[in-house]
Amino acid sequence: MLFSVILLGLCIFFLLLQLKPQRPKNFPPGPPTLPILGNLLYLNLKFLICISLHLISYGNVYSIFFGLKPVVMINGFQAMREAMIVKAVDFAGRPQDMFMNDVIQRKGVIMADYGSVWRDHRRFALMTLRNFGLGKKSMEERIHEEVECTIETLEKNIGKTLCPQFMFHNAASNIICRVLFGTRYEYEDEIIQTIVKCFTDLTRMANGMWAMLYNSLPFIRPLPLPFRKAFKDIEVFLSIAVGLVNEHKKTRVPGEPRDFVDCYLDELDKVNCFSDKQLVRHTFDLYIAGTDTTSNTLLTGFLYLMNYPQIQERCQQEIDQVLKGKERVSFDDRHNMPYMQAVIHEIQRIANTLPLGVLHSTTRDTELMGYFIPKGTTIVQNMISVLSEEGQWKFPHEFNPENFLNEQGKFVKPVASIPFSAGPRMCLGEGLARMELFLFIVTLLRKFNFIWPEDAGEPDFTPLYGITLTPKPYPMKIQLRQKQ
Ligand code: HEM
Repeated sequence: MLFSVILLGLCIFFLLLQLKPQRPKNFPPGPPTLPILGNLLYLNLKFLICISLHLISYGNVYSIFFGLKPVVMINGFQAMREAMIVKAVDFAGRPQDMFMNDVIQRKGVIMADYGSVWRDHRRFALMTLRNFGLGKKSMEERIHEEVECTIETLEKNIGKTLCPQFMFHNAASNIICRVLFGTRYEYEDEIIQTIVKCFTDLTRMANGMWAMLYNSLPFIRPLPLPFRKAFKDIEVFLSIAVGLVNEHKKTRVPGEPRDFVDCYLDELDKVNCFSDKQLVRHTFDLYIAGTDTTSNTLLTGFLYLMNYPQIQERCQQEIDQVLKGKERVSFDDRHNMPYMQAVIHEIQRIANTLPLGVLHSTTRDTELMGYFIPKGTTIVQNMISVLSEEGQWKFPHEFNPENFLNEQGKFVKPVASIPFSAGPRMCLGEGLARMELFLFIVTLLRKFNFIWPEDAGEPDFTPLYGITLTPKPYPMKIQLRQKQ
C-alpha cells in the first residue's frame, strides 16, 4: 500500500515537472514558475502584467509565463528601440492564440499576423485616413462638426458641474463613426450608448482576469464563464455595422466615396484579400482602436488641466495670442503654438493610454539585448517604462509640459515620446488622433474655463485599468470665458 502511494506520488511529481514551463537556453530571465500556472500567481490581476513585475527587476528584458505560454516583457527605450525599430520585422507579428483572436474571429487589422492581409488592410486604412479617399469633406471638418456638438453640451451646463465621461466617449466615437460610416449619433441615442458600453466592457474584459485565464488555460475556453460576454458584445457591434454596410451598398455611387466603407467597397474586387467580412471587422478594429484611446486621453487631459490651473491659463493665453479674431482653429495653427503642443504631448505621456501597447509576436527566431527569443514568442511593451524612464525626461514623474520645451520655449519631442509605439505596427490612427486632440482641446479651452469643483475633494489621478487606462469618473465645472 505504502509503495503504491509513493509510486503514485512520484508519478504526479514527474507529471507536474513535465507541466512546469521551462525557459529555453539564453531566454530572458524571470521569476520561478509553477506547473500549469506558470507565473499566473505573480501577476497583479488588477493591472495584469503590471509594473510591479518591472520592479522585481530582472532587467530590461524579462520573461513570465501565462500558464505554459512564455511572454517576454520589454522595458525602457533602448530595448524597445532594438525590438520595434532595429529588428522591426522580427517583432512585427501578433500572437494568434489569444482571447482577442477568438473574439474577432481572426479578421481585421489589429490582431492580424505580419503578412499580406495585414499589410493590404493597413495600407488601405492609412491612405483613406489621410484624406485620399474620404470624399468632399476633410477630416478636419468632420472633427470640427463634432467639436461643435460637444460645445453645445457644455453650453447647456455653464455654471454647473458635469461628469464628462460619456461626453468625450461619445464625441470620439462619433468622429470615427463619421469617418467610417459618414454618420453620427445624438449623445442620448440608444445605438451609440450601446456601442460605447460594449466597447468599454470589451476593452476592460480583454485585459482582465478572465481573458488572462482564457489565454493561459486553453481547457477552460469552451466553458460558460464570464468571458463569453465579450463574444456577445462584439456581435452587437457587428450587427449594427453589417446594417450600415448594407445601407451603403444600396445608396453608394461607385467611384464617388462618401466615407471609409464606400472607399473599401470601391476596392473590394481589386484587392485579393478584401471581403465583406473583412470590411466589417476592419470597421470594428478602427472603431475600438479610435474611441477609447482618444476619449481617455481627453479625459486625462481635462483632469490635469483643471488641477493645474496655471497650465490651463498659459494655454489660453497662447491660444488667444495666435488665433486673435480667427473664427476657428485649424490643425496647421499648431506650428505657432509650442506651449499647447507641449501640453498635449505631456498629457499623452502622463495618460499612458495603452499601458501594454498591443501584444506583438516574433516572426522568426531572433535576439534582443543579447537574449535568444524563439519564433512565435509573445512580446509585451511596457509603455510606462519608456514614457517615464529616468534619463529620458527632465521631469519623468510629474505632469510638466517643460518635458517638451527647450530653453528657448520651442517645442521639442524627446525620442522616448512613443505613446503610439514605433515601427511597422505603430498606431495607424496617429494622424487622426493628433488632429482630434489638438482641435478639441484648443477649441474648448478657447471658449471655456474648466474648474475642479470646490466640493470635489482631492483629485484622484490613479487610473482604472483595462486595455486602456482611464481616469476614475470625475466632476468638471464649466465657466464661459470672456470674449478675448
Ligand atoms: C490617443 C490616441 C491613440 C493612442 C495613444 C494609440 C496608441 C496605439 C498603440 C500604442 C498601438 C500599438 C502599436 C503596436 O502594436 O506597436 C496602436 C495600434 C493601432 N491603432 Fe492606435 N492609438 C490611438 C488612436 C487611434 C485611432 C484614432 C485609430 C483609428 C483610426 C487607431 C488605430 C489603430 C490601429 C488600427 C492599430 C493597429 C495597427 C497595426 O496592427 O498595424 N488608433 N495604437
